[in-house]
Amino acid sequence: MGLLSGKTALVTGAARGIGKAIALKYASEGANVAFTDLVIDEEHGGLQTEREIAALGVKAKGYASNAADFAQTEEVVKRVKEEFGSVDILVNNAGITKDGLMLRMTEAQWDAVIAVNLKSAFNFIHACVPVMMRQRGGSIINMASVVGVHGNAGQANYAASKAGLIALAKSVGQEMGPKGIRANAIAPGFIDTAMTQALPENIRKEWISKIPLRRGGTVDDIASCAVFLASDMSSYISGQVIQIDGGMNM
Ligand code: NAI
Repeated sequence: MGLLSGKTALVTGAARGIGKAIALKYASEGANVAFTDLVIDEEHGGLQTEREIAALGVKAKGYASNAADFAQTEEVVKRVKEEFGSVDILVNNAGITKDGLMLRMTEAQWDAVIAVNLKSAFNFIHACVPVMMRQRGGSIINMASVVGVHGNAGQANYAASKAGLIALAKSVGQEMGPKGIRANAIAPGFIDTAMTQALPENIRKEWISKIPLRRGGTVDDIASCAVFLASDMSSYISGQVIQIDGGMNM
């Protein structure tokens, strides 16, 4: 019996990276896992992720959808409910960066990051909460970032979207607590994924030198916390932001 046996999890943007690691760890704890990404195919990893989840002996399915699109999200959640029977755990993980200093940031950069990172979470929470209310409970996890707590020069759009995800989790936690629904945010620091591997080597080195544990985080470091927040081990924890950053921000 795993910590999440019998539960259904829905993870957005999980064809690769942190979302994939969470999906796999949930499966290894016995959850059935539905996940989304922009495309589900061989080239972008979605079909491979689906196979790896299923190999752990649970139900697995990837759904192609743009998390920023309200109507597509309603449709996906409807299909997940039909095909999995419930949604007990929602992880709003899909995210992008379009960095730039404020004076150079275009309206398109701002709009894209707010839509994909923040509006997507509204879309999924809005669609999943009625399902969770009928089940009398659920756990919602928003993937924020340490920059959503502390800000970051050159990432005004991204930091604002991540701060929004934190406030969204707290607000939903307050509204939905009486219905047994918890909402929390995870704020990763510097995690080794495609997003951070794209950074120039000198910038990577500079980040790592600021981390007391002197290493980047792994996707598993994040996935372990996501299991805890999804499971009954955290049944009295709601509205919290857990920074997973090797001690970078104390
Ligand atoms: P990644 O770029 O490796 O994976 C993100 C996934 O989201 C990709 O598969 C991508 O196709 C998908 N995606 C993008 N736009 C989408 C959309 N509109 N609809 C559906 N799916 C979409 O990124 P990574 O590093 O795994 O990040 C995952 C989350 O963790 C993001 O929200 C990111 O902001 C957050 N995060 C990552 C950190 C890091 O150091 N890697 C640090 C702090 C937060």
